[in-house]
Amino acid sequence: MAQDIQVGLIGQKFMGRAHSNALSQVSRFFDLPRTPVRHTVAARDEKELAAFARTWGWGKTTTRWQDLAEDPEIELVDIGTPNHMHKEQALAMLEAGKHVACEKPLAGTLADAKEMRDAAKRRKRLSTFVWYNYRRCPALATAWKLMREGRLGRIFHVRANYLQSWGGPDTPLLWRFQKKFAGSGAHGDLNAHLVDLARFLMGEEIVEVHGAVAPTFVKERTLLAGSVRGLGGKGGKQKGKSDVDDAVLFLATFRGGAVASFEASRLAPPHQNANSIEINGEKGSLRFDFEDMNILRFYDASDGDRLGGWRRIMCTSAGNHPYAANWWPDAHVLGYEHGFTNMLADILRVLGGEPPEIPLPDFADAYETQRVLEAALLSAKNRCAVKLREV
Ligand SMILES: NC(=O)c1ccc[n+]([C@@H]2O[C@H](COP(=O)([O-])OP(=O)(O)OC[C@H]3O[C@@H](n4cnc5c(N)ncnc54)[C@H](O)[C@@H]3O)[C@@H](O)[C@H]2O)c1
Repeated sequence: MAQDIQVGLIGQKFMGRAHSNALSQVSRFFDLPRTPVRHTVAARDEKELAAFARTWGWGKTTTRWQDLAEDPEIELVDIGTPNHMHKEQALAMLEAGKHVACEKPLAGTLADAKEMRDAAKRRKRLSTFVWYNYRRCPALATAWKLMREGRLGRIFHVRANYLQSWGGPDTPLLWRFQKKFAGSGAHGDLNAHLVDLARFLMGEEIVEVHGAVAPTFVKERTLLAGSVRGLGGKGGKQKGKSDVDDAVLFLATFRGGAVASFEASRLAPPHQNANSIEINGEKGSLRFDFEDMNILRFYDASDGDRLGGWRRIMCTSAGNHPYAANWWPDAHVLGYEHGFTNMLADILRVLGGEPPEIPLPDFADAYETQRVLEAALLSAKNRCAVKLREV
């Protein structure tokens, strides 16, 4: 019988909801060695917290996140706070002997990320996870398997872009637009996912960033008046400085010689959450766009010129596509929240001594993504190429 695992969560907004949903659903859809129990949720706003706990079934609430470290019953702590908080909270939880699942990017700065990686390394008994959730869209998990089977052959190009449009001048000065909280803007928010996906699918590291641009288009924003809502909120009359990038574009090379382009923007209307990646190889190509997340496009060069072209694969077939068997009949499509539940299922497998369906990113893995992000920022700042071994 599955053994309970008491979970503590920090943060109760966007990711707090996504993670709470996964925690409440996962045992209904997956047969797992561990069953998560929503023990305590911590966040800052006492009033909102009580209502949140009622809605999402959390046993206790606290405005002191340190309470999670001090509670001997809690075994796994899930961090869904702004980037500048990740290090302090993760280090405290590891110190207290808890497994940690932390939101991405690993941290706001490379120095914080390094401390987190090193702390995790010192505590071999504990597991760490980073919520690079898009890996667990069945279409991308299928892409990973196809690449492991060698279906693309030698890889020439990786083309990744993540385009959104909510970051216009009317959006107030959320924490996401302030370096002291976020570390960077569209870069750490969106390119982080792309770099993780590219490294994950390729199974090799980026060795050089050749050039980058990182403009701030909107330099002043109204101060937030009231609470954050999703990716927005209401601004007042006063203004403050936005000191992060609104878009970052960069070029890179993988160890095996494949070239890659990355593009992240929050000012690319009408794209809303267009997280897409295309990989071209000598035997085939693949393409994914999150706004059509159940579909993987696959091209097999052996089809020849007469019949060759993109196949449109609906990745919902039980037994053929990862995670599909746990959900609905074929083509009864999945959505954003399923990626989190699929990831949580793999986290619980690992904590119960079983292998995950596909590899999970831990702090050491997410640190490598953070190094690439840092190299791109250095490249933009100094207008030069940056070798990863220098970062
Ligand atoms: N995996 C993804 O696709 C994805 C999507 C969105 C956000 N994120 C990441 O999740 C994290 C949180 O983002 P979000 O969109 O949920 O932010 P949010 O602003 O919606 O929520 C942040 C939460 O953190 C709490 N918080 C802030 N400072 C705190 C502190 N000092 N102590 C305790 N609680 C504190 C706030 O009360 C709030 O509940 C960020 O690292 C972000 O990059 C990941």
